[in-house]
Amino acid sequence: MGVSERAAEAHVPLGRTVEISVPATSANLGPGFDTLGLALSMYDELEVAALEAGRLEIEVSGSGAAEIARDESNLVVRSIAHVFADAGVPMPGIRLVARNGVPHGRGLGSSGAAVAAGVLAAKGLLAGIVRLDDAALLRLATELEGHPDNVAPALFGGLTIAWTAERGPQHKKLLVHRGVSPLVLVPGYTMSTKAARSLQPQQVPSEDAVFNVSRSALLIAALTQSPDVLLDATEDRLHQDYRAPAMPETSRLVRALRAEGFAAVVSGAGPSVLVLCDGPGHRLDAVRIADQATDTPWEHRLVAVDVRGGTVRERAEGSSSQS
Ligand code: HSE
Repeated sequence: MGVSERAAEAHVPLGRTVEISVPATSANLGPGFDTLGLALSMYDELEVAALEAGRLEIEVSGSGAAEIARDESNLVVRSIAHVFADAGVPMPGIRLVARNGVPHGRGLGSSGAAVAAGVLAAKGLLAGIVRLDDAALLRLATELEGHPDNVAPALFGGLTIAWTAERGPQHKKLLVHRGVSPLVLVPGYTMSTKAARSLQPQQVPSEDAVFNVSRSALLIAALTQSPDVLLDATEDRLHQDYRAPAMPETSRLVRALRAEGFAAVVSGAGPSVLVLCDGPGHRLDAVRIADQATDTPWEHRLVAVDVRGGTVRERAEGSSSQS
């Protein structure tokens, strides 16, 4: 019997339950469009159990709960199904309980977190049947998300450089200098990544491309060794100005903070703002500026860099489903 026939005959034990935790992420970080990402200490926590094939039960609480699909179009469920299809193993029924701590639709990687959670859930459910290494997790997550800059830090934590080679999506994880203190400013409204991407031009001036190459190279040094150059290192000419008309309050806040010397950038496709301070105390000064710079109220999240990334573990038999 071949490998694919064996996989098709394998079954996840009914009742197998896995617990998954996945961090928020901020992509781009200014100049590193579609390449750089940072994992942040806000988490989606999920439990996924294998049921009889065909059954689907979904409970969601926390951020975005009202808008999240409770059927097979749910992004976590679709991500689990994608991994099972790729592995050639029959998909079991699924019970999913999600407590979402990653702000939804705010440029903090909520869809990347859902995809990473689904891929990790599938890894846990398939333990002992199919082995999924880091390269396979990143490939599968990128197939679902379209670009690897959020899913790489969601899966692996820290600061990630992600790129696509002929052999598939790749990543390099770096540890961030301990002086770097992130602050996230989250508005009450959402921004669609698709709408933000539609504002990008097909071509950019070569001097702007060179500008971003220099700043993104410098940003790696700033985040790992020299936080003192974060302001110059977070300059960008490839995406934020093009997208500014879709999120004027975000743009105003980024400009106000940068004028005061803070390394502020649009987080991912927006509308949240990420401020990379060079010490924890400086974050309160940035909060004071945010409170006065625009008419929009900004929720302040003083976060840490998550160094662990997404985790999955099988729940021991007999333990309660309540936490
Ligand atoms: N790099 C992506 C963008 C991140 O800015 O469009 C959002 O998914």
